[in-house]
Formats: sequence, structure tokens, C-alpha cells
Amino acid sequence: MRQSSLVVVANRLPIDDSTAPDGACEWRRRPGGLVSALHSPLRQTPATWVGWAGGTGPAPALPDVDGVRMRPVPLTAEDLRDHYEGFVNATLWPLYHDAVEQPEHHRRWWEAYQRVNQRFAAAVAEVAEPGAVVWVQDYHLQLVPGLLRALRPDLRIGFFLHVAFPPPELFMQLPRRAELLRGMLGADLVGFQRAQAAHNFAQLADRVLGLPATDRRIAVDGRIVRVGSFPVSIDTAEMAALADRPDVADRAKRLRRDLGSPERVILSVDRMDYTKGIEQRLKAYSELIADGHIKVQDTVLVQVAVPSRERVGQYQILRERVEREVGRINGEFGRVGEPAIHYLTQPFGRAELAALYRIADVMAVTPLRDGMNLVAKEYVAARVDDTGALLLSEFAGAAAELAQAYLVNPHDLEGLKQGLLAALRAQPEQVRGRMRAMRTHLRQHDIHAWARSYLAALDQDSALLSRLGTTR
Ligand code: ADP
Ligand code: G6P
Repeated sequence: MRQSSLVVVANRLPIDDSTAPDGACEWRRRPGGLVSALHSPLRQTPATWVGWAGGTGPAPALPDVDGVRMRPVPLTAEDLRDHYEGFVNATLWPLYHDAVEQPEHHRRWWEAYQRVNQRFAAAVAEVAEPGAVVWVQDYHLQLVPGLLRALRPDLRIGFFLHVAFPPPELFMQLPRRAELLRGMLGADLVGFQRAQAAHNFAQLADRVLGLPATDRRIAVDGRIVRVGSFPVSIDTAEMAALADRPDVADRAKRLRRDLGSPERVILSVDRMDYTKGIEQRLKAYSELIADGHIKVQDTVLVQVAVPSRERVGQYQILRERVEREVGRINGEFGRVGEPAIHYLTQPFGRAELAALYRIADVMAVTPLRDGMNLVAKEYVAARVDDTGALLLSEFAGAAAELAQAYLVNPHDLEGLKQGLLAALRAQPEQVRGRMRAMRTHLRQHDIHAWARSYLAALDQDSALLSRLGTTR
């Protein structure tokens, strides 16, 4: 078994199933912020990525991808049901997102969570060379830092949570809250998207475990665990270069023509998830049409909503409701050849996404709660001519950085409608000033800066940094 000095652990591997068997593997870039985020900084870095390759049964043998070794962890059908679809996405996900859907608690799911976390920890212990840096990602694997420390005390362990971390009042609902906190505290550094999340975590360490804790340091078992916020980002330069490509510009022109050359295009791009505020957005849009503020002949909405976690009940219900509403709005307000909403559920390649961002006069990103939201940042990076208005939820982590967006509270329907109208009607000079400021911010705070700052904080002798992004 070859070993690595940097091991990244995430629930999913970034590999595309369809290209894996013939050896011509490509980064999957499947819809989802985590894979999008880690793809750029890791490329060509001598590292191993430990994760699930999708599906059930024995793990497939996988070739390296862009110089990164793939180490698959197998899941059984039962693991998939009770870990991924159960504890991960029907207990933790809704609870961490303000309980906008009711979190479910089942003892069997907790057993599966422990079992799968143990399997991941064992896989990492095998592939990490002595003294290696291990970077554990996200809410699927909160027990891994603690389990790994018990197996391999020589490792330097980081944990980063990509999603929101809830206030103590909500977290306290978890029957196994103490074990989850202890699991995360197995790390040397626990990173969050927002300073508020780090604060919530420190409060919980104090309240649930009685540990001496500040927002930056928690003392546990004679060690100091550092805590901090590291807002994740995108490869700004890569997205800007893609959006600037002549073929992407041509594609954007064609897309706009295909939409009937409307005056204004509103775009939303989400995973089909109840945290994304899709239903509230559709309601705001349809009321603006009904009120006569928007005319379908000159303003269209393109809603991309790629299905996600399709076997989880709450996701099935959401998809049915969204599709019924899209049908109702198109039936009521569309005309032949002129739908009010262009609704697409397909995953797109990066160039097609960039072309879509280019045609969006207004990008509507209005989640009810979101750890960060990379789509908002991708849109900004793609607006290479400084045009375009970003309508952004106050409850997306990105709002803390993209202060020049048109900020809205998506729970407030009137406010959402007013915000959408303001973004649609904004004067070009105003839009340009705002977009320019946001683009300047993202040029400095890109994904490479994020990875460097996290790993520098984790591996203070910084030997690792010389290898990360050696590519740049
Ligand atoms: P989340 O991680 O909750 O899905 P983010 O907005 O942070 O939300 O990240 C979503 C990522 O998935 C972005 O990089 C975006 O480009 C990508 N994505 C979303 N929808 C699609 C789609 N239909 N096709 C391809 N990529 C998509
Ligand atoms: C969010 C999570 C990721 C997850 C992604 C897609 O971004 O933070 O960990 O991979 O959603 O969800 P999925 O369930 O398809 O992996």
C-alpha cells in the first residue's frame, strides 16, 4: 500500500463513474460545493483522496486522477440507507440548516454513522505515511478525527465543515451530541465557514463537554484544539478565463437567442435542495408576473435544479412540489414558444455553466440557509465585463463577503420581490460598481488562498505548502 504525506478524506471521491473503467478518468465536478472547491488546489499535488466512489458493493480499483491517488471506501446498501440517506442527510443536514425541514432521529442511523466513520478512519490510517497531514471534510465524517487520533497519534489532523454549523439550541437536540463534538475535537484544527459557527462550536464544547473554550482554542485531553473560520471560495481566475473564451461567448449569444432574445434573463442554479429556497423564489417571481411588474415577453427565469439525494423522502417531496409549481406558472403565464420559466434538471459542463452565467442579467441565489454558496461566487467571477446583478440571501455564507450584492431575506416574500425588482431595474453604473468591487474581492480571496490559509494554520511548519499547488 503506497502512502502519502497529504490525505484528503471526504464522503465522495471526485471521480466520474462513467469514465473510470477505461482509465480515462476526469474530475467529476459533480454538482456540489465540496468537490468544486477541492478540485483546483489539489490538482497535481502528491496526495491521496479517500472517499466513496458511489454505488454499493466492493470498492472499484481506480487510477490516479490529475496526479492525485484515489482510495475508495466501499459502502453497503445498508450503509447507504442508514448513513448517507439517514444520519447524514435526514438528521444532520436539516438540523444544520436551521431545521427548515424536520430532522429525524433513529438509533439505527447513528450505528451506521459510527460504522462508516470507523471504516473511513481505518482507510486513512492505511494510506497516511508517518507524520502525514490528514484533512477531513464535512458533516458526513465528524467522528473521523477522533477515531483517527486513537489509531494514529502521529498524524496532524484537520477538520473542515463546508456546511453551516447551527446555534447551540439546535445542536443540543442531537441525542449523540457529546460524541459528535468529541469526534471533531480529535482534530488539531477545526475550521468553519463563518466566525459565528466557530463561536457556536466553542460554546457547545463548554456547555456539553465542560471544556475550557474560547472561539479560537479549546483544551481537551491535555491538547489544544485550534478553531477558526476559513470561508471557502472558487478558482476565480479559472472561471473568469472560461467565461472569457470565444466559444463560451458564442454559446452565450446562442443561448440568449434560443430564449427568444428577452430584455432580461434571471438565472438560478441549485442542487434540488429544500435549503436553496427554490419554492420561495418561484412564488416571488410568479407574484411579480401576476402583479404586472414583470412581463414574460421581456423577462424570463432560467431555473437549473439538478436532482440531489433522490432517495431521501424530503427531497422527493420537494422535487414534486417544485415541478408542480413550474408547471402551474408556465401554464398560467406562458405562451406558445414562450414559457415563463425555463426549467432544467441536467448537470452541465463547466463551459455551459459559464455561458449561462454570462447571459444572466440577474443571478438569483436565495437559499434559506447555506454554508457558503459557490454558485454566487462563480457568477461574480464569470462577469468579466463587470455587468450583472447578484441577488443574494442574507443567509448564505457568501453574503458576509459579497456585501455589494442585492441582499434579501428569502423568508420575507415582499422583500424578496422588491429585491428582485431592484436588481432587474438597477442602473448600469450602479451594477458595474457593485460587480467590480465583488470581483476584486474574489480575485484575492480565491480557492488557492483558502487552501493555503487552512493548511498553513494546520501544518505550522508549512512543509506541506511547498507541495500544495506546486503547480502554481
Ligand atoms: P452545494 O454545495 O450546496 O451544492 P454550492 O453553490 O456551494 O452548493 O456548490 C454547487 C456547485 O455545484 C457549484 O460549483 C456549481 O457550479 C455546481 N453545480 C450546480 N448545479 C450544477 C449543474 N446543473 N451542473 C453542473 N454543476 C452544477
Ligand atoms: C454540499 C456538501 C457536500 C456534498 C454536496 C453534494 O456541498 O457540503 O459534502 O458533497 O453538497 O451533495 P451529495 O449528497 O451529492 O454529495
